[in-house]
Amino acid sequence: MWFIKNSITRKNLMALTGLFLCLFLVIHLLGNFQLLLPKEEARLQYNLYSDFLSNNILVKLISYGLYASILIHTLDSIYLTIKAKKAKGSSYVKDNRGRASKWYSRQMMFLGSIVFAFLVIHFKDFWFVYKFGTLPLDTNGNKDLYGLVLVSFENLWYVLLYGFAILSLGFHLLHGFFSAFRTIGLYNPKYNSIIKTVGIVFAIAITFGYFIIPFYMYLID
Ligand code: HEM
Repeated sequence: MWFIKNSITRKNLMALTGLFLCLFLVIHLLGNFQLLLPKEEARLQYNLYSDFLSNNILVKLISYGLYASILIHTLDSIYLTIKAKKAKGSSYVKDNRGRASKWYSRQMMFLGSIVFAFLVIHFKDFWFVYKFGTLPLDTNGNKDLYGLVLVSFENLWYVLLYGFAILSLGFHLLHGFFSAFRTIGLYNPKYNSIIKTVGIVFAIAITFGYFIIPFYMYLID
């Protein structure tokens, strides 16, 4: 039987915000798949879609929840890491964790930091320019966000930076998805392997989906 066994704790909050961010990743990826359409069709459709998102009040409200989730998830991870380090103290002599867990499960903070650093760059280059910068308009009169994305992925180093960040995100999800379910208590030994498998499929699909976009755009330009 599925059951919720914990009240809202910091760990739960991290798991819940993490799962909300997973949901965002799916929606953002589906939106970004429009970039893979033939060039001029992609330009008009992507710009129209982005214009709709930025003017819709409901989407705006969800976006505030998204920004809050990113901050809460990041701050809680820092707090819990410091707390765990303090708890271990100096008695922590020999590190045998490699035998029991995968390397990416032990590097969640490091992988998460790479994703956070990526998000700072991502917001600066796309989000900020779209919301507050001046962009040329397409033939429909919408801001040409597609053109901005296309020009950004002209640079191979920028494409590689995205590739690296997306791989880091993938490993972060590989542990995070399953771990989040366990933390909030939506967990039953009977369904353990199903959740694990869903987590692995989710992490691979998200990584692959995001990964191909910068490389595709680099190649078509
Ligand atoms: C590879 C492909 C990606 C492309 C082409 C892309 C493109 C964009 C663009 C153009 C924007 C600004 C327009 C807007 O605010 O809607 C944006 C916003 C955003 N992106 Fe991405 N993105 C990519 C990957 C990612 C990844 C991997 C993450 C998360 C780790 C991410 C998280 C965000 C967030 C949080 C926003 C702000 C959304 C909002 O204001 O509601 N993006 N992205």
